[in-house]
Amino acid sequence: MKISGTTQLACLLGHPVSHSFSPYIHNYLAEKCGLDMRYVCFDVEEDQVEAAVKGIRALGIVGSNVTIPYKIKVMDYLDEIDPNAAIIGAVNTIKNDNGKLIGYNTDGVGFVKSVIEAGHTLKGKKVMVLGAGGASRAITVELAAAGVNKLIICNNTLAKAKQLGEQIKERFTKVSIQIESLNMTESDLQGVDFLINTTPVGMSKQKDSCPIDEAISPPKGLVVCDIVYTPHDTKLLLWAKTNGLEVVHGIGMLINQAVHSFYLWTGKEVAAYEEILALLVEQGVINQ
Ligand code: ATR
Repeated sequence: MKISGTTQLACLLGHPVSHSFSPYIHNYLAEKCGLDMRYVCFDVEEDQVEAAVKGIRALGIVGSNVTIPYKIKVMDYLDEIDPNAAIIGAVNTIKNDNGKLIGYNTDGVGFVKSVIEAGHTLKGKKVMVLGAGGASRAITVELAAAGVNKLIICNNTLAKAKQLGEQIKERFTKVSIQIESLNMTESDLQGVDFLINTTPVGMSKQKDSCPIDEAISPPKGLVVCDIVYTPHDTKLLLWAKTNGLEVVHGIGMLINQAVHSFYLWTGKEVAAYEEILALLVEQGVINQ
């Protein structure tokens, strides 16, 4: 990998960052597109976040990803926030537009892309989303932007789901919103086109848990999506497969949020899902 006097830089700001998979993806994409650009991770202490963001402008860094715990804090130091990112309330991507720093959130866009790439249509559909935290905010906002007809937001803390629903409705007036608890029954799933888990239930230590009752017999044609990607086949996705349903794996959102950040920085729209997946498996970043 050649680095010269004209090499441009993109980066990740977060704490910690050492386990990030983003350098693999972005350096691969830069090389694939023949761009003289490299991507590195910066582990930033909390009292240095403002200086780090200002550094993007000062050093002419083309853009940055932002990860835990600074996705909200960085918003204070940006020149402009994309309207969808403003409702989501968090930024995972900063674009340096000739010195103007613009904040975006590509998580939900990445999720929507992974569903569409799997061959599905979201427009006019009825979608049930489990969870109302940060990931759910990113996903539900972009589902509304993609033109779904109805969003059923299910969460243990109902007030959080209700607040999210109200914020979505303010911007996307056509979408119908319903708020429910997480204890859904078989009849609650009738007529639902997509079921999406955004809670950590099913992830690593909770890998034997399923966010819905596995005794439920789902309606035919339901598409089941999980944003948990370790394990690849969560309990929820195994339940779906056992019932003959199509699934969308969590790794899709992870890859596509990066691909969309890369697009925002470079203007290059790359179709490289399978290649990136193979790269992440080869690097041992994910297991399949
Ligand atoms: P993230 O940024 O990953 O979305 P988060 O903002 O902490 O993380 O949100 C986690 C979501 O998963 C919340 O909706 C949370 O429910 P509450 O709002 O009621 O706390 C939900 N969640 C977390 N652990 C859960 C569990 N064991 N069972 C059900 N829901 C859970």
